[in-house]
Amino acid sequence: MSKPFLSIENMTQTFPDGQGGTLTVFEDATFGIDKGEFVCILGHSGCGKSTIMNILAGLAEPTSGVVKMDGFEVSGPSLDRGVVFQNYSLLPWLSTLKNVTFGVKARYPDWSKAKVEAHAREYLAMVGLEGDVVHRKPSQLSGGMRQRVSIARAFANHPKLLLLDEPFGALDALTRGTIQDELLKIWGGTEQTVFMITHDIDEAILLADRILLMTNGPFARVAESVEITIPRPRNRTDIVEHPNYYAIRNHLVQFLGQRSKELAGQQSGGEPQSPTRVVIDKTGPAPDPEPTTKPQLRAVND
Ligand SMILES: Nc1ncnc2c1ncn2[C@@H]1O[C@H](COP(=O)(O)OP(=O)(O)O)[C@@H](O)[C@H]1O
Ligand SMILES: [Mg+2]
Repeated sequence: MSKPFLSIENMTQTFPDGQGGTLTVFEDATFGIDKGEFVCILGHSGCGKSTIMNILAGLAEPTSGVVKMDGFEVSGPSLDRGVVFQNYSLLPWLSTLKNVTFGVKARYPDWSKAKVEAHAREYLAMVGLEGDVVHRKPSQLSGGMRQRVSIARAFANHPKLLLLDEPFGALDALTRGTIQDELLKIWGGTEQTVFMITHDIDEAILLADRILLMTNGPFARVAESVEITIPRPRNRTDIVEHPNYYAIRNHLVQFLGQRSKELAGQQSGGEPQSPTRVVIDKTGPAPDPEPTTKPQLRAVND
C-alpha cells in the first residue's frame, strides 16, 4: 500500500505538569490522512487536539515521533499548510484586506498588486466581508468577523493542507452554515486535504469523509476512525434522512459520552497506537442472511 499524504508515526507529546512531574498528553499516536481527504477530529476539551494540530502545522515539535507530508518530514511552518486557529490570530496593525493579501503575496510572488487584491477580496466576499469593512483593523471587528478574516486568509493561499481548529465556533448559525457550504465547495473543487477540529458532531458528519475519535487524556488516544458512509454532495437538510445518519451519530455520541472515558489513560507500551476502522452501513445487504430452511419465527428467549 502506498504511504498516505500525511503520516503521523509514533507521535508522543509530554509537557511539564507544573508540579515537577510530567503530563503525557498522548503517546505513540499513529495515523494517516490521504490526499484530498476531509478528516474531522472529535474529543473532549484538553485531550490534545490543538496540540496535534500545532504539530501538523509545524508550529510545535512533538516530544518524539515523526510527521511527514508528501514524504517529507514536517519541520517549521510552510505556505503549503494553512491554519485557522481556535482564537483567530490576525496581524493587528494591518487592515482586514492586508491581513489576507499579506499571505497571497508570499504565496504568489509573480502576481500583480491588482491581482493579489482582487483575489483577497474574492475570498473575503466569500465569508461575507465586502465594502469598506475590508479597510478596518482587526480591533474594529467583532469576534465572528475576525474569525471570518482568518478563514478567508487560510483559504486564499490554496494550501495543500488546511488545518482548522474549531474554526466556526464563534460564528452565528447562519454564517456558520454558509461558510460550511463554501468550505465544501472549495474543497470539492481542489486537491486540498482538510484536517479539522470541531466539537459539533453534526458539523463533522456533514463535512467529513472520516471522523477520528479521541479518548480523554492524559494518555489520550486516537481510538477510532469512523467512515462517514453518506454519499456526497450532502446538504444539511437531506442528510438526516439517510439511513446511516443516526446510526453514525449515535455511535459518536456514545463514544464521547461514555467510551472516551472508559478508554482513557491507557499507556502504549511503546507500540504504535492506530485507530480502529469503523464502518457503519445500514444500506448494504444484510451481512449474513439466514438460510431459507430455518424457521422464520423463533422463541424470544432462544
Ligand atoms: N505549552 C503547554 N504547556 C503545558 N501544557 C500544555 C501546553 N499546551 C497544552 N498543554 C496541555 O496539554 C493538554 C492538551 O491541550 P490541547 O491540545 O489544547 O487540548 P484540546 O485542544 O483537545 O482542548 C491539556 O492538558 C493542556 O493543558
Ligand atoms: Mg483546542
